[in-house]
Amino acid sequence: MPILDSHTIEFFSRSPEQTRRIGMRLGGELKAGDVICLQGNLGAGKTTFVQGLAQGWGSIDAVSSPTFILVNEYRRANGNLIFHLDAYRLESVPEAEELDLDSMLAEGVLIIEWPEKLDGLIPNDRLWINLEHVQEEHRQMRFNARGKRYDDLLDGIRQSMFGGA
Ligand SMILES: Nc1ncnc2c1ncn2[C@@H]1O[C@H](COP(=O)(O)OP(=O)(O)OP(=O)(O)O)[C@@H](O)[C@H]1O
Ligand SMILES: [Mg+2]
Repeated sequence: MPILDSHTIEFFSRSPEQTRRIGMRLGGELKAGDVICLQGNLGAGKTTFVQGLAQGWGSIDAVSSPTFILVNEYRRANGNLIFHLDAYRLESVPEAEELDLDSMLAEGVLIIEWPEKLDGLIPNDRLWINLEHVQEEHRQMRFNARGKRYDDLLDGIRQSMFGGA
């Protein structure tokens, strides 16, 4: 087992529905400028997690994998935005720089699949979520916060899921 600290929490999911429910908890807490990184192998459940996240946030748009266009946008009825980025197909850092993460962050929430591909471009402060395939429908999820905003987010999730720290 990894060493857990006050900036880290772990979940165990036994189904896609459970992964979506955990995503919903987080989604309900998000606001423009937040950065959520989702790391994990193909099929680990990143997009499944984003489906719940967008639902909990209140998206009126359906979530899909941003395969060819790299970035999907989801709207809330009041005009708020989520940018859902999938960096898997990015070939180079210059190509990644063209994405202009800063202007997305000024306008909405930023969710990034395959954040390893954007090394150096992601703000220092972020919530980093690692999903691991354990077996069939079992997934291990680890949330790691860096920065006060994300420590606060983790506290909120701890409260809502476990009823306190
Ligand atoms: N506990 C679970 N949580 C999430 N997904 C699960 C779980 N158990 C089974 N699955 C299945 O695993 C697959 C996860 O696919 P998903 O597209 O979410 O992965 P991904 O991490 O986004 O992959 P990619 O890197 O290709 O974008 C889905 O078919 C989902 O139904
Ligand atoms: Mg995906």
